[in-house]
Amino acid sequence: MNNRITVAYGDGIGPEIMESVLQILSHAKTGLEVETIEIGEKIYNKGFSSGISDDVWEVIKRNKVLLKAPITTPLGKGYKSLNVTFRRTLELFANIRPSLSYYPFVGKFKNMDVVIVRENEEDLYSGIEYRFTQNANIAMKLISTSGCEKIIRYAFEYARINKRNKVTCVTKSNILKITDGCFQEIFLKIAPEYPDIKAEHMLVDIASAKLANNPENFDVIVTLNLYGDIMSDIASEVSGSVGLAGSANIGKEYAMFEAVHGSAPDIAGKDIANPSGLLNSAIMMLKHLGKNHEAEMIYNAWLKTIEEGLHTADMFNSEKSTKKLSTSEFTQAVIHNFNNKLSLLISKFQSATNERILIKETLNNNEKSELIGVDIFIKTQFTPELIAKLQKLDDILKLHMVSNRGLLIWPKVLRNAELDFSRFRFLKAKKEYRISQSNVLELYKKIVELDLDIVSIINLFSYDDNIGFSLAQGE
Ligand code: NAI
Repeated sequence: MNNRITVAYGDGIGPEIMESVLQILSHAKTGLEVETIEIGEKIYNKGFSSGISDDVWEVIKRNKVLLKAPITTPLGKGYKSLNVTFRRTLELFANIRPSLSYYPFVGKFKNMDVVIVRENEEDLYSGIEYRFTQNANIAMKLISTSGCEKIIRYAFEYARINKRNKVTCVTKSNILKITDGCFQEIFLKIAPEYPDIKAEHMLVDIASAKLANNPENFDVIVTLNLYGDIMSDIASEVSGSVGLAGSANIGKEYAMFEAVHGSAPDIAGKDIANPSGLLNSAIMMLKHLGKNHEAEMIYNAWLKTIEEGLHTADMFNSEKSTKKLSTSEFTQAVIHNFNNKLSLLISKFQSATNERILIKETLNNNEKSELIGVDIFIKTQFTPELIAKLQKLDDILKLHMVSNRGLLIWPKVLRNAELDFSRFRFLKAKKEYRISQSNVLELYKKIVELDLDIVSIINLFSYDDNIGFSLAQGE
């Protein structure tokens, strides 16, 4: 087993909490060798818009395991989130985020024990965004069948290995029927392969509300990237503090461990941050590396500290805590508790090296696709004269509907056009027609000849005779 890990101190509270965690790891004699890299704010400021220099990738890939403190993503359009870049580049498709309540010492829920399995590579985090016009911006939510299958299988396998009873799939499939609908559909397809595990689906709004008030009813949650991000902050906060939860980002070859929270610039440099989130991530890392004994020893010492009421400011509660500790005092308290008697809470330690799960994708997608039309987004005033021109523009591709901000404005007018561009949908005029990209190109040229401003075009396909695009609202 490789003993060398890459460590990034990060920004904001990053260096303080990483220092704390490395001290604890070193006292636990984990035998880990640490290779430190510099990423984040300093590198952004040196002119690398990605927040990382090329030579650092080589170190990360060589060591395979990265322990990372939070990074500040600079505001401004020129910068991409390095966290997302890591997850994508290293193919870390599964983000495992456990949140437990350490009742009665921290948190108000007795039996909260939730693991959020967050899809880590797709969704709005693909970061494909455009300014369509002066007024309108769009982001692309990318959801693939294979991506859904991988994460959903991972969640069920995780549940089985860890003797969990239930997997809750969370989406917004009532609104996002194609993207979130795909996630839900694949969940429903895969769930019967795991008859020993209860499977349920919830919409993200009610799931989040219930998670905040009734977290004990959840077990494993599998969800899309954005919802997983938001729900894991809720879960962590509900368990006692956003500073508590750790996470494992897992792929076939590489793994990255980080707290769920950010760089907390508001408390940086004050020695008051809670290192527990990063410490819990490091414990997950030790398990991943097969160092269960060390992981359990550190977890026990940390739990003992929690039980003694020795809490950092974010988890301090005058009725339950005995002392408010700084980051460095908390670190020493944990180290002091090594080899102390077992914590009352230690049963919460799951010894399975649960993050190494091999996934076999089995769902094949052999549907027959056919080009049947095109959506053309045009920046223009919407007028009856324009509609008349577009209706007789082409004999193969016929104007089918127009929508503005997703709402139908032609042939039925549900509301006047509000944005400065509309979506004009052209579909093949007859079912028996077989159209190609040349037909789309012909139509495109004719629209350009009308001196209209095309903002974007999206080809429309059917799959095994089911349309592969959403209807307009009101259509
Ligand atoms: P944040 O999680 O950094 O802070 C939110 C609130 O929680 C703040 O009041 C902060 O003081 C508190 N908090 C967070 N961690 C804490 C800890 N360990 N101990 C005590 N209190 C803690 O979220 P925010 O302010 O929205 O983001 C700040 C920066 O962090 C942004 O630049 C963001 O892009 C970045 N970020 C980085 C992440 C990562 O590296 N994985 C994840 C999330 C955000």
